[in-house]
Amino acid sequence: MNIGIIGAAGRVGSRLTEQALAREAVVRGLCLASDRPQVRHPRFSLVAGDARNVEHVRQTIAGKDFVVLAVGSRCIDSPHTLHTESVRATVAAMRQADVRRLVAILGSGILDHHTGLPLGCVQRLNTPTAWLEDYLAAYEFLTTVDDVDWTLICPVLMSDHSPRGHYRVSANRLPEGGRHIEAGDVADFILKELESRQFDRQRVGIAY
Ligand SMILES: NC(=O)c1ccc[n+]([C@@H]2O[C@H](COP(=O)([O-])OP(=O)(O)OC[C@H]3O[C@@H](n4cnc5c(N)ncnc54)[C@H](OP(=O)(O)O)[C@@H]3O)[C@@H](O)[C@H]2O)c1
Repeated sequence: MNIGIIGAAGRVGSRLTEQALAREAVVRGLCLASDRPQVRHPRFSLVAGDARNVEHVRQTIAGKDFVVLAVGSRCIDSPHTLHTESVRATVAAMRQADVRRLVAILGSGILDHHTGLPLGCVQRLNTPTAWLEDYLAAYEFLTTVDDVDWTLICPVLMSDHSPRGHYRVSANRLPEGGRHIEAGDVADFILKELESRQFDRQRVGIAY
């Protein structure tokens, strides 16, 4: 497996890097210059850059088979266009580099609720409005893209303790009653989904 990970120092990104390397993958990670991962491994290389910059993303994914977009911001006051801009830059870079498979992480707010509204419009407390708008705009952009095979992973509330190794996934909806997931289990599912393409062009809810 040959993967470019955009946001490799984040909670999911670092778990993903660790698990991919343990499964013999070759990984190139993009991280903000201020945010270097601690990984030292002969099959890991690093690009310091910005996920919103097409050239930085292209350098990260050139020659790769798979791309994972795992950026996020822990700062509630940061600009709420990160996901829209980074998804657009990633798709543009994938076209330039002729890479076709993308798995990106957004939030459970874009999943379907039985009322027909996005889940995040019903459960506003879990997804601040500006973040939800950014997630929805990124998703809507991807629905217009037909030359990239994409899957959107939509975790419910996430923490970063030991992964459990078992979880539920559901196409376009949150698994019934799901409230929580560990970043390491999200990473495990992403690695499986990259190759299996079980949820091609779909959103996937993931929770215990
Ligand atoms: N936490 C939750 O409960 C939860 C639930 C559902 C979905 N999500 C979503 O899941 C995704 C991954 O979550 P996470 O907790 O792994 O994210 P994270 O750790 O908050 O962020 C991921 C990484 O992206 C980096 N980053 C931010 N802006 C960037 C940029 N412009 N260019 C390059 N890298 C950039 C961050 O650096 P800095 O730390 O320096 O900003 C961080 O290392 C996010 O989209 C998040 O919104 C989170």
